[in-house]
Amino acid sequence: MQNTKEAEKARTVKVGLIGLGTVGGGTLQLLAQNGRLIADRGFALHVKRVCNLDVPYTEAKIAELGLTDTTATSDFHDLVDDPEIEVIIELIGGIHPALEMVQAALRAGKSVVTANKDLVASHGAELFKLAEEQQADFLFEASVAGGIPILKALKDSLAANNIVEIMGVVNGTTNYILSQMSSTGADFQPCLQRAQELGYAEANPTNDIEGFDAARKMAILASIAYNTNITEDMVYVEGITKISKFDIDYAAQLGYVIKLVGLARPQGDEAAEVCVYPLMIPASHPLAAVNDVFNAVFVEGDALGQSMFYGRGAGSLPTASAVVGDVIAAARHVVNGTRGSYGLRQFASRRVLPIGDCFNKFYIRLMVQDKPKVLAQIAEAFADSEISLDSVIQKRVMDSGLAEIVLITHQVREANLQEAMGRLHRLACVDCVASMIRVKGE
Ligand code: HSE
Repeated sequence: MQNTKEAEKARTVKVGLIGLGTVGGGTLQLLAQNGRLIADRGFALHVKRVCNLDVPYTEAKIAELGLTDTTATSDFHDLVDDPEIEVIIELIGGIHPALEMVQAALRAGKSVVTANKDLVASHGAELFKLAEEQQADFLFEASVAGGIPILKALKDSLAANNIVEIMGVVNGTTNYILSQMSSTGADFQPCLQRAQELGYAEANPTNDIEGFDAARKMAILASIAYNTNITEDMVYVEGITKISKFDIDYAAQLGYVIKLVGLARPQGDEAAEVCVYPLMIPASHPLAAVNDVFNAVFVEGDALGQSMFYGRGAGSLPTASAVVGDVIAAARHVVNGTRGSYGLRQFASRRVLPIGDCFNKFYIRLMVQDKPKVLAQIAEAFADSEISLDSVIQKRVMDSGLAEIVLITHQVREANLQEAMGRLHRLACVDCVASMIRVKGE
C-alpha cells in the first residue's frame, strides 16, 4: 500500500482511449481492475478521457467501473489537444479514420498504442517513421495473436537470432472451424454456421475464412522478424473454404492435421517467403495440438532452436492484456525520458518471393475414370513437369464409375505443380482435381 502511494505521488501518466467496443471495453476494465497493481510496478495510469461516439454508453461504462476522474467525449481532438494526455490508445479498428487519428496523436507528440492489424499491416512503415520523427512510441502487440506476447519476443528476446521459420495459427475462427470439422466429421458450412452462432465468426466471415486476417498478422510478424517492410498485399493467401471433410479424413489417415497456417521464411539474404494457406502438418507437430479458437506462433531461431507461443488470440480481456502491457511500456518510457527508443526502423529490404518460386510438398485428390492406364497417364503428366511422386493411394470407386486418387508429391517448385495441373486438366481420363493442399515435410 505504502509503495502504491509513493508511486502514485511519484508519477501518474495520463492516458486517452479511443473506442469502447469489445477490446476497448476490456482495456478500460483491465485498467480499472488492475490499476493499483500496475501502480505498484512504478507509476500510476490515469485514463483521463474516453472517446466513443455513444457518449451516454461511455459515461455509464465509466461509472460501472468506478472510475471517478474519467470523462467521455465523442471528439478525438479532445484527447489529441489535451497537453496532459501522454499516451493515446486507438481501438476503433479499420483504416479510416483510425489512420488519421493515429497520425494526429503522433504529430501532437503522444505515444500511441493500437490493436489495429489492418492499419499496421498496410501503413506500418509510415507510422514507424512518424513516431521516430516525433520521438514517440508506436506499439501494437495486440494486433497479432491477441494476448500472446509474440511481437515483443521477436523484437527483443529473439533479436539475436536469425529467424529461420515462423509458422502461425493466427486466426481463431478458422482454427475453430477446422477443429470442429476434424472432431465431428462435419463439412465446412455447418462448422462455419456454428462458429457464427457462438460469436467467433462475424456475419460476413470473409476476412477470416479467406485468410485475409491471418495475412495481415503474417505481414506484421514477417516485417519484424526480417526488419523489412512487408505489407498485407505482398502476402500470398488461400483460405479454408475449399477444404472438405474428405480431406480432413485423408489427412488423419495419413498422420496429418489440416490447419490454416501463416508461414514466413527467409530465402537467402534478399528474399522471404510470406504466405497463408491450409497446410497438412504432422500430427506430432506442436501446432497440430492447437485447437478451437486458440492461436499459436511456432518460431525457429538459429540460436534458440524451436519454440512455441500459445494462448488466446482474441477476446476482450486477452487482447486488453496486450494493449495494457504496451500502455505500461509507453508510460515507462515517458517516465524515464526514453520515449521513441522502441522505434522500428526497417533497415533491410527483402523482396517477397512469388508463390511460383516457392517449394512445397503437395497432397492432391483427383477424380478419374476407373480404367486401365489412367495411373500411368497421370504419373506421366507429373513426370513431364519434373515432379516426383512420394505416394499414390487409390482409395474409392464411386457409384458414378469414377475413382478417387490421392497423391502426395515430393517437394516441388509451385510453378511446376501449376504446369502439371494444366496437363492433368487436359487429360480425358481426369474428371476433376478435387483438392490440392500443401504438406509440411521434406
Ligand atoms: N477474427 C480474428 C480471429 C480475431 O478469428 O482470430 C481478431 O484478429
